[in-house]
Amino acid sequence: MVSCPRRIAGVPRSVRSVLVRSVLVLFLLTACSGGGGRGADGAAGVGDPYFPKAGNGGYDVSHYDLTLAYDPKGRPALSGSAAITARAAQDLDSFHLDLRGLSVEEVTVEGARADWSRSGQELSVRPAHALDKGETFRVTVAYSGTPRPITDPDGSREGWLRTADGALALGEPVGSMAWFPGNHHPSDKATYDITVTVPKDLTAVSNGEPTAERTADGRTTSTWHIAEPMASYLATLAIGRYTVTRSTTEDDLPVYVAVDPTQVSASREVLARLPEIMDWAQNNFGPYPFSSTGAIVDRPEDSRYALETQNRPVFPGPPDTATLVHEIAHQWFGDSVTPRTWRDMWLNESFATYAEWLWEEDEGGATAEETFTDLYENGEEDYPGLWDFPPGDPPTAADISSDPVYQRGAMVVHRIRRTVGDDTFYDIVQGWTAAHRHGTADTDDFTAYVERQAPDQDFDEIWDDWLHGEGKPELP
Ligand code: TRP
Ligand code: ZN
Repeated sequence: MVSCPRRIAGVPRSVRSVLVRSVLVLFLLTACSGGGGRGADGAAGVGDPYFPKAGNGGYDVSHYDLTLAYDPKGRPALSGSAAITARAAQDLDSFHLDLRGLSVEEVTVEGARADWSRSGQELSVRPAHALDKGETFRVTVAYSGTPRPITDPDGSREGWLRTADGALALGEPVGSMAWFPGNHHPSDKATYDITVTVPKDLTAVSNGEPTAERTADGRTTSTWHIAEPMASYLATLAIGRYTVTRSTTEDDLPVYVAVDPTQVSASREVLARLPEIMDWAQNNFGPYPFSSTGAIVDRPEDSRYALETQNRPVFPGPPDTATLVHEIAHQWFGDSVTPRTWRDMWLNESFATYAEWLWEEDEGGATAEETFTDLYENGEEDYPGLWDFPPGDPPTAADISSDPVYQRGAMVVHRIRRTVGDDTFYDIVQGWTAAHRHGTADTDDFTAYVERQAPDQDFDEIWDDWLHGEGKPELP
């Protein structure tokens, strides 16, 4: 038997020859990794079916404390330090963080400098002292550079986007690794404190609530406290010139809205409906899961798509009411109840799309039944790929945000409603958001939940044909 050192650095001094030493190191590396060993290296991914390298095995993050300075004209533009509190889920001689681009300057674990190396998006960290399963530990990463956008499998751009007057960070699905190191997979949610320093003519807006702001030496520092668990893809940072409006809803929920000055007048009317939409959403989906709400409106060319960033969704220009309803609905479906893997994306988009149908029905427009029927009969006119694949099983990573996930997904929700009736349907919707509030859930959790709430109904056809079946399903 080989006795495995916890760290390869501990090879005995008596082994003099470099050659012999390298052979021994290689041998120990092979003998001590995997197999019957302790498996003490955290995996470089959580095995997501669409983004296998996203996230990391072996630990769970509970909190991120990010301290960033950004100056669009600076060199480097961004300098940052991330302090990450995590708990080891196994014994760990080493573990990974995800980070794309940027230069790492120093990594510490439990206050001691750690060895690290980089390969692609993986920052591999070898602490001076190995970590024991169950141990809570603190990692700090000091880094700097010019963050870059990431092109998604579907061709859209995320990560760190430069705007006319600053930058916008958007993270779905894997963009947040462009601006801070972390466990970038929705299965590992955490609370955050984000402190940002920018030139004083700019404003920095993030998730949660602003807790402090001060200006000194020509720079403004603001801190954002995110008290409820957040998946890293929902973290945002909007830096630029913004017209900021603070208010509260009738229930005393803080509202923080930041609008690019060129978009203010065109956004006024729709944003005035935010409190009403929040109220409507709570009546439909249950208590609001977060401690503040709001919106960020940038210029249309800044992102080209809206995103349900936690507390305050981002919009490329003034949204229409349906899009505002969609992104607010995501606060329950996606942000509070978060998909466990990117395969479960339809749990987000089907409900956010169905929220648009319900809103239209309640506003006296088409009923959800009419929307469903119209989609079933003529949907391919507006959505040519509507029947290409089932919402529960997108074929590739490029498909997780395409029409079957949104539209056919909403049709699945409507089929459930028709099967159980409105009373049970709203019990299911509100029970589901309560049962997994601030957590993660997958498709099997959902189908099992629906079956438990309506034990006398048969859902096989909905699951087999609508959720998981190929082709256009028959109507009963
Ligand atoms: N989730 C966004 C919405 O529906 C859309 C979106 C933006 C998206 N970027 C994405 C979906 C990346 C999947 C992947 O409001
Ligand atoms: Zn959506």
